[in-house]
Amino acid sequence: MRLILDTANLKDIEYFNTHYPIEGVTTNPTILSKEGGDVVALLKNIRAIIGEDKELHVQVTETQYEKILMEARAIVGLLGKNTFVKIPATDAGIRATKTLAAEGMGITVTAVLSPAQAMIASLAGASYVAPYVSRLENLCDDGVGCVAAIAEVFAYAGTKTQILAASFKTVKEVLDVATVGCHAATVGSDVMKKMLAHSTTDTSIAGFRKDWERAFGRNTLLELIQVDAR
Ligand code: E4P
Repeated sequence: MRLILDTANLKDIEYFNTHYPIEGVTTNPTILSKEGGDVVALLKNIRAIIGEDKELHVQVTETQYEKILMEARAIVGLLGKNTFVKIPATDAGIRATKTLAAEGMGITVTAVLSPAQAMIASLAGASYVAPYVSRLENLCDDGVGCVAAIAEVFAYAGTKTQILAASFKTVKEVLDVATVGCHAATVGSDVMKKMLAHSTTDTSIAGFRKDWERAFGRNTLLELIQVDAR
């Protein structure tokens, strides 16, 4: 399962894009509102940081069919190739998805809360569907089960649409969708950091250091190799 970063914070994007194996960035109106300022410049900066080969998912703010078409074309015009236009799973959204996908535009149908929505989005030509895992879990619904059901529907149909699971609050949710046929997950900076963190990793490293210093002193292996090479 591929990992995408779910933020518009330029510092976080710079850091994770450089050092972590992320394949793109997703945004939505709420994520962009957290950064504020000139949103067009912000989106252009995100594209400049990740480069033209990584995916950038940007959501429409228009809600009427014709306006969604205009906005989607403007977004792709602004941000270039590998830009996926996120369109919510509404009636107008599905109509716009069908039109834009037929033109060859990459569409991520978002705010997906059921396998039925995902199926219609896929048949309309969406490149991705984005089921909201944590929002379902918070309602005592089965977010991971929803992703699993979508994966099963897509597998039976042999569709090319991929699942880009979104809305994660825990590492467990991310790992759970990774085992049910999810293609990609978009994860915020906090959850991304938590995926790597483990207290036993830290205590293991502290133990290695203690044992090393007891046997060889404070020099690192690098320093001892450098001394040997002189
Ligand atoms: C993707 O960008 C989705 O919009 C996002 O993951 C939703 O996350 P939230 O439920 O935490 O707002």
